[in-house]
Amino acid sequence: GGGARVIDGKAVAAALRAEIARRVAALPFRPALRVIRVGEDPASVVYVRTKDRAALAAGLDSATIVLPADASEAELLETIARLNADPAVDGILVQLPLPPQIRPTVVIEAIDPAKDVDGFHPLNAGRLAAGRTDGLIPCTPKGVMHLLRHAGVPLAGARAVVLGRSQIVGRPMAQLLLAADCTVTVAHSRTRDLPAECRRAEILVAAVGRAEMVRGDWIAPGAAVIDVGMNRLPDGRLTGDVAFAEARQVAGWITPAPGGVGPMTVACLLENTLEAALARRG
Ligand code: GUN
Repeated sequence: GGGARVIDGKAVAAALRAEIARRVAALPFRPALRVIRVGEDPASVVYVRTKDRAALAAGLDSATIVLPADASEAELLETIARLNADPAVDGILVQLPLPPQIRPTVVIEAIDPAKDVDGFHPLNAGRLAAGRTDGLIPCTPKGVMHLLRHAGVPLAGARAVVLGRSQIVGRPMAQLLLAADCTVTVAHSRTRDLPAECRRAEILVAAVGRAEMVRGDWIAPGAAVIDVGMNRLPDGRLTGDVAFAEARQVAGWITPAPGGVGPMTVACLLENTLEAALARRG
């Protein structure tokens, strides 16, 4: 059984990547992405390789810059300054997390906001908080909005609950849903009676990083359930923040994890790089 329509993030992402490749091929220049990784965090190694390959496959100029795990904050800031000053570079991404000797806020604020394809710089975050959706928007929440629109989930007036308040997902996700005329609640680890809060949601976005925390009985019948989670179980398998087998019996729409939001994050990074290039160079 299972009533929910499963949203195929891989397929939607492949279509978006193909569209970006077409637009890039029509340009008289190649938008250029530079991804910086500091150290050898295994998940970051995989994510950065995935982003680089996707960028090259879309016809972008892409390169990864790897600094050693013991690199100083000053070294990273020098690397960013060089890329900021290079007119051929359109997008700069510093993969998180960073080693403890480097302050992420200092690094994020050093990136030229016009090249900030993660959308984490306070100027871009502030524009989004002011209700402007025409700037550089964080890739994961941007990808979630693509999926909701692709699936035809009604947004205007809908009750949306965002589970998680991170800078990377929860906060910008809430801003985007608000800009789409949802009634938005941000719930988190300190929220009283999380299950009851979630059951009120017509759109539920789970971004808490706790394997299968959202159970079937947390979900309103017919709700759209978007699973941003990517958690490794003790046996090595990857799973989302939602107990998928239970949730799909109740939900109206659901994304699998893996295979839902993750591929959209990568596609939106390419979209942001193209948009940054167009804004910088016309
Ligand atoms: N680490 C986990 N997610 C992200 C992301 O979206 N961007 C960057 N730069 N690092 C991450």
